[in-house]
Amino acid sequence: MTMTRRQALRLLGVGAALSVSGCSLLSRTPLPQLLTSSAPLPKPYMVPLPSPAVAKPYRTDASTDYYELVQRSAEVEILPGLRTPIWGYGGQFPGPTLRARAGRRTVVRVTNHLDAPTVTHLHGGHTPPESDGFPTDLVQPGAHRDYVFPLEQRAATLWYHDHRMDHTGPQVWRGLAGFFLLGDDEQDKLPLPSGERDVPLLICDRSFDADGAMPYPARPDGPGAHEAFMGGVLGDVILVNGAPWPQLGVDRARYRLRLLNGSNARTYELALSPGGVLTQIGSDGGLLAAPRSLQRVRLAPGERADVIADFAAYRVGDHVELRNLLGEGPQARVMRFAVERDASDDSAIPRTLSRVEPLDPATAAVTRDFEFTSGDLHGHTGWLINGKPFDAQRADARPKLGQAEIWRLTSDVSHPVHLHLAPFQVLSAGGERPAGPPEWKDTVELREAQTVEIITRFTGYRGRYVLHCHNLEHEDMAMMSTFEVV
Ligand code: C2O
Ligand code: CU
Ligand code: CU
Repeated sequence: MTMTRRQALRLLGVGAALSVSGCSLLSRTPLPQLLTSSAPLPKPYMVPLPSPAVAKPYRTDASTDYYELVQRSAEVEILPGLRTPIWGYGGQFPGPTLRARAGRRTVVRVTNHLDAPTVTHLHGGHTPPESDGFPTDLVQPGAHRDYVFPLEQRAATLWYHDHRMDHTGPQVWRGLAGFFLLGDDEQDKLPLPSGERDVPLLICDRSFDADGAMPYPARPDGPGAHEAFMGGVLGDVILVNGAPWPQLGVDRARYRLRLLNGSNARTYELALSPGGVLTQIGSDGGLLAAPRSLQRVRLAPGERADVIADFAAYRVGDHVELRNLLGEGPQARVMRFAVERDASDDSAIPRTLSRVEPLDPATAAVTRDFEFTSGDLHGHTGWLINGKPFDAQRADARPKLGQAEIWRLTSDVSHPVHLHLAPFQVLSAGGERPAGPPEWKDTVELREAQTVEIITRFTGYRGRYVLHCHNLEHEDMAMMSTFEVV
């Protein structure tokens, strides 16, 4: 019997730190690679943090709000003094923020004025299959599609982004992503910071040519092939809400920061400098049962964390950096808060936030295994699940509607794994139970050579959905699996 790479790694006790020239040492499996800008990098903390415009419904009736998003190319100023061509919802990057209400239907008409097909997915949405943005449900240039979101789910920080098969990496890189903030009564009753002090932060990395364009490496199997980037594309400029290393002026008060890692392949470990606590109140799937105090918040691509930062802990005139402990040099910086004034603050962080019903492993009808590894994809190296590339026609699992299941996910190199439709709870990671009470997730980071067990219940809708790696280069190189709820 041959040893799998994972077994070999375990045997040798090799951890995530061992890597050489962009490859995992033992496996030669490509890791994410830095794409260096030819434009000079801007000075940090020189531009104000932008706040994406909030979309307005064009129609509203008793049960439903109707929105229109037009996907367009545009030129925007991202690096001071340079024009950057983007693809954006509404010609903006990030796209407009949608604010919706749990239990109220939201219909989003997406009109494609780009010269390439698109697919739009609401990440974290509990959505019927025809509106979930299945990767082959293309909206052709000139066409439109009404995505219907019943939103029968709890309040959470969701986001929408492109999901076109084989092209998600470049299309998101060009700008097709935005926030979708879902509220509900339970959350409204809590005295959390709100209004100006509830700040969505879409964090992502990009690189820039001297003329301001955001280049994207060609696929390994395409013209101008570049195998180097098949492990993932890392930019050297960190953008927050589309601005490089921005600054936000704040009151000496609590702020709710809705952190979203919208990067293609970069993982962050976020911390305040010169130090301070981030109190996490929410995860991918909404409020935690109780707040937890953290010194650092780790976010793999696709993951979210709602945290409270209390700037009353600092003095007027202080600068508080949000740093990325996994980055080096410029990539160790994210943004800065400038503490500008004293102010009153009637917010609070309640000791109990919500009820999170634990899913009991004893109720699981099935346990399924999914191995995330590199492997041969049409004569090139690609990314596979259980040795197979994505096939829209082949259902790799058929969970029954209403049924609880345990899915055991195993990695070679690190993979942020995302499950559509069904929020889940992590039962174990690397053989250990997570500390603290369960929380609702939709994306979980598998560290190198790790097994993570999740439990979920498939409710709401029958039909075709996907499970995939949210490293967008892995996703585009086939690390996706179709499942069908029956
Ligand atoms: Cu955020 Cu299937 O994607
Ligand atoms: Cu999703
Ligand atoms: Cu991956």
